[in-house]
Amino acid sequence: MKKYLINGGNALNGEVEIESSKNGLLPIIAATILTDEECIIHKVPNFLDINNMIKILEHTGLNCTKQDNTLIIKGDTANCSEVGLELTSLLRSSIYALGAYLGRFKKAKISYPGGCDIGLRPIDLHLRGLKDLGAKIIEQHGNIYCDGSQMRGGKVFLDFPSVGATVNLILAGVLTEGTTTIYNCAKEPEIIDLQNFLNAMGAKVKGAGSSTIVINGVNKLHKVEWTPISDRIVAGTYMIGCAMCGGKICLNNCIYEHNQYLINLLSRAGCNITHKKNKVTIECTKRTKCIQKIETMPYPAFATDLQPQFMALQCVSSGNSIIVENLYETRYKHVPELIKMGANIIVKNQTAFVSGVDKLYGAEVKASDLRAGAGLVLAGLCAKGYTTINSIEHILRGYDNLEGKLQNLGANIKLIED
Ligand code: EPZ
Repeated sequence: MKKYLINGGNALNGEVEIESSKNGLLPIIAATILTDEECIIHKVPNFLDINNMIKILEHTGLNCTKQDNTLIIKGDTANCSEVGLELTSLLRSSIYALGAYLGRFKKAKISYPGGCDIGLRPIDLHLRGLKDLGAKIIEQHGNIYCDGSQMRGGKVFLDFPSVGATVNLILAGVLTEGTTTIYNCAKEPEIIDLQNFLNAMGAKVKGAGSSTIVINGVNKLHKVEWTPISDRIVAGTYMIGCAMCGGKICLNNCIYEHNQYLINLLSRAGCNITHKKNKVTIECTKRTKCIQKIETMPYPAFATDLQPQFMALQCVSSGNSIIVENLYETRYKHVPELIKMGANIIVKNQTAFVSGVDKLYGAEVKASDLRAGAGLVLAGLCAKGYTTINSIEHILRGYDNLEGKLQNLGANIKLIED
């Protein structure tokens, strides 16, 4: 069991390099299943979720090697279009194998995906969209059986701009004959990066970043060399950390535009944020003010993946804040842990009412999922005394060397193994 031990109270100062985006890389790695040629991906961080996605590729018969941070994938040996619970339960993005298998093999058998325990997280939109393209799908005994032999381009209307469904439909559509149009799709920057990656392989995808994506099917995809975009949620986590602890940090490899919503909130809260190319600097010299009301929504609005970290900030800001979590039914598991640290929070259904306190105090807490864990790390960094965070395996899914990077910024945090 791994834990973080934090002695809070230090300001954060210095520079931090933001790693590549986890949620950008996962679809890109899945997309490599679509070609038998070599894919070279640079700046691949050491996230548990990425390593588990690579396991799915290896299971599919692709040859993956990682040298330093460069991942080399050779797909000419791929020979399997089935993946079972042992691997799919490890991460939500295992569901991307479905679209990729349908694209390459025109068939798939896949078990239901796992992932962070933050809500129901159904995959009905993925399956309905694939059916609209002509896939025949049977769900039986925890497995999804898909026959894509009759798939053709078509129109798909998503009820909700789901990131995962958009990714799966793109993956299934690029090698499918005809034109596929996805309406009300997700507009996240990670979808744009997937489009750019696929187009660099010879696909014909346009519209990513808007609410309509059009895919003209091609026969084959070819080799590619790629560097993914940086992780906006990791960047946001460091920015919120600086707002909570005080200090001045420069985030390198940070795309300002991808975090504009958060930056606007942090500026309103009293932080000073500037940027020059891909360097964003945040300075916070006084106690932040609460933001009266925030709601999580699909991009470009406030990201649910920053809700726990932002809630930690509201806990120590002056005033009151109302937070509404619209995406996930149970993404408030950090609340009882923050309360153990002295926070004043009341939750009613999907709404949290936070009254800022002068100080949080160190306590023994548990990370229930990736971003909840990140929120607790930030709370620990600004709390008085020692905080122990248990179950940090969740945090390692999506933060690369978090403790090392925070130590470089002056934090007193250690990873310990029992
Ligand atoms: C992606 O998950 C991210 N994961 C999540 O990040 C993120 O929280 C989420 O998008 C929203 O931004 C990856 O990119 C790997 P959705 P995804 O499909 O694709 C409902 C993190 O911490 N829905 O956009 O699973 C669903 O229940 C993770 O890094 C359906 O009802 O998200 C949810 O309420 C956690 N039916 C909403 O849509 C479906 O078929 C958004 O889900 C699909 C989704």
